[in-house]
Amino acid sequence: MTNSFMKIAEEALQDPAQFWADAAGDIDWITPATTILDDSNPPFYRWFVGGSLNGCYNAIDRHVLAGRGEQAAIIYDSPVTNSKRTISYAELQDETARFAGALKANGVGYGDRVIIYMPMIPEAAVAMLACARIGAIHSVVFGGFAAAELAKRIDDATPKLIVTASCGIEPSRIVDYKPLLDEAIEISAHKPDHVILLQREQSAASMIDGRDLDWNSEMAKAEPASCVPVKSEDPAYILYTSGTTGTPKGVVRPTAAHMVALNWSMKYIYDCAPGDVFWAASDVGWVVGHSYIVYAPLFYGCTTIMYEGKPVGTPDAGAFWRVISEHKVKAMFTAPTAIRAIKKEDPDGKLIADYDLSHFKSQWLAGERCDPDTLRWCEDKLGVPTIDHWWQTETGWAIASTCLGLAGGLENSPVKVGSPGRPVPSWNVQILDEAGKALPAGEIGAIVVKLPMAPGSLPTLWNNDTRFLDAYMNDYPGYYKTGDAGYCDEDGYLYVMSRTDDIINVAGHRLSTGGMEEVLASHQDVAECAVLGINDALKGQVPLGFIVLKSGVARAGADIIAEIIQLVRSEIGPVAAFKLAVIVQRLPKTRSGKILRGTMQKIANGEDYPMPATIDDPAILDEITAVLEANNLIANG
Ligand code: COA
Ligand code: AMP
Repeated sequence: MTNSFMKIAEEALQDPAQFWADAAGDIDWITPATTILDDSNPPFYRWFVGGSLNGCYNAIDRHVLAGRGEQAAIIYDSPVTNSKRTISYAELQDETARFAGALKANGVGYGDRVIIYMPMIPEAAVAMLACARIGAIHSVVFGGFAAAELAKRIDDATPKLIVTASCGIEPSRIVDYKPLLDEAIEISAHKPDHVILLQREQSAASMIDGRDLDWNSEMAKAEPASCVPVKSEDPAYILYTSGTTGTPKGVVRPTAAHMVALNWSMKYIYDCAPGDVFWAASDVGWVVGHSYIVYAPLFYGCTTIMYEGKPVGTPDAGAFWRVISEHKVKAMFTAPTAIRAIKKEDPDGKLIADYDLSHFKSQWLAGERCDPDTLRWCEDKLGVPTIDHWWQTETGWAIASTCLGLAGGLENSPVKVGSPGRPVPSWNVQILDEAGKALPAGEIGAIVVKLPMAPGSLPTLWNNDTRFLDAYMNDYPGYYKTGDAGYCDEDGYLYVMSRTDDIINVAGHRLSTGGMEEVLASHQDVAECAVLGINDALKGQVPLGFIVLKSGVARAGADIIAEIIQLVRSEIGPVAAFKLAVIVQRLPKTRSGKILRGTMQKIANGEDYPMPATIDDPAILDEITAVLEANNLIANG
């Protein structure tokens, strides 16, 4: 039976231009688009062609003009510094206009790139919005990445200026950002003209004369800048994400399309209204942070929360419930990993009872596959709908989700454990076999999206149309390849089971095992290696390295492994969570020399595996099993 959700989804697929033209009416335009969807050059689709507008105006100024100046725009809650701060829309306007002026005074203009390497502090959002105000393109880099990763992004984005802070604060240590940034600029070929640095009291950074500028001094002398018109298709930002190699992919976000889609999602997916408090407990360095800490809540006139802390340990497993209660959060979004961490420390959810959660209406999960226990635990202990939804850096918002605010919400689309729901209206998701043939319900295949994708998704990769085509468009002509595998059931619910490439998901962070292999292979004693993701009860997956040493290497294996672990930490960053590696005599391969990573992964996960028909020497699998057993590294075993 067709319900009202399905009817809307059907209409959106039949006439996407009309569907999104209606949604575009909720955004303030300088010049309205002349063409809603330009499909003249597939697979390069363009949304809202001919329009102009400004992202910062839509996120801030229009709300001040509409009388929301006194409403909280950002609530900064930082258990790691023991501080809190509420910034109203009017204050955010003032701060952002001044920082935009500071950027301008230092030569940043329309179309220039600015890298933002900052922790979870309001100044990170101010820097992002200030870029949007003057039509500059920001690229935020997550603080858990090491200098070499930052350098790759500097070289690809070629920023005119970098904005940073002296340090980030992890519960166990202060992370000094400036030495990492200095090293990154040292090793990158491209050099920014300036660095603007916010000194934090927890750790002061040394400055390089002439290049480095102090945030407060620049703000004090800045002339506030006004919003400039930006073309619909101009990039709002570039966000680098893991690909199958160590070179990250620069996902481009088109300005107007992301505004229209995110604004729509706040009402129809998350069931929020202007003035509500929305909290995404992520980091500005990830796509969730871009879309749902900064842009979507502000486009829609909500209050957003910037939380500088962890789900546990800052100070306890009740931290999330305290924030929800104290700031009257209506909808909260996090990764299943964070809930698993809480559940581990407070299995019965006893700490929840300490807080008044009467304003709390929905819990949202994404970033990795959600295990049924975690979903049920939330439903049970929090007593609100808990909704797993599926999306990617590339799309910028949910491809599949229960749309709580749309036509019947949960009644039309009850949550099914293990599924992130049905495709959101305008997303045409299909399951294909290797030959590109559509698969019936229940059969696992590649999850693809029929083109055109909904607005907000990437139009290309930064300066790299060829990689865009190779990575996403060429394998299934007419479809976008998500890189995920899964199936649909008879009711059209999607089940996302695994990646089809070398990407793993560690604590909701997307990482490339190919990138880690490049680092392992650079060690002087390593002849060959493989890195794969193995199941982990807390983080979902963690990387495990297999190393074959060069012949003649006589050093102690434990020393080599320690060096390799440190190498990944210093080359990729602590976020890689690379802590497990074993030395093996040889790697299992097919007769054509392809490493049998899937089989090794099954062995490490304690799963049954079929003997690969093309294996060169089956005995190697016994050797691998023995080494993993000896190191106590077989899960479920
Ligand atoms: N800057 C510097 N280092 C960082 C960092 C940052 N912004 N974020 C994480 N790190 C470091 C951590 O300190 C840790 O270092 P360590 O190896 O010295 O301990 C390492 O990177 C791994 O961090 P993490 O994966 O966060 O593991 P953890 O053990 O510190 O914490 C959880 C475990 C579950 C609490 C944590 O992973 C978590 O909150 N996950 C939710 C993830 C999330 O929100 N993802 C966004 C998608 S929605
Ligand atoms: P990222 O680009 O970092 O957001 O990671 C996107 C990838 O995370 C997806 O391609 C999936 O592999 C995985 N992912 C995100 N959300 C979900 C979900 N709800 N269920 C299963 N996998 C998910």
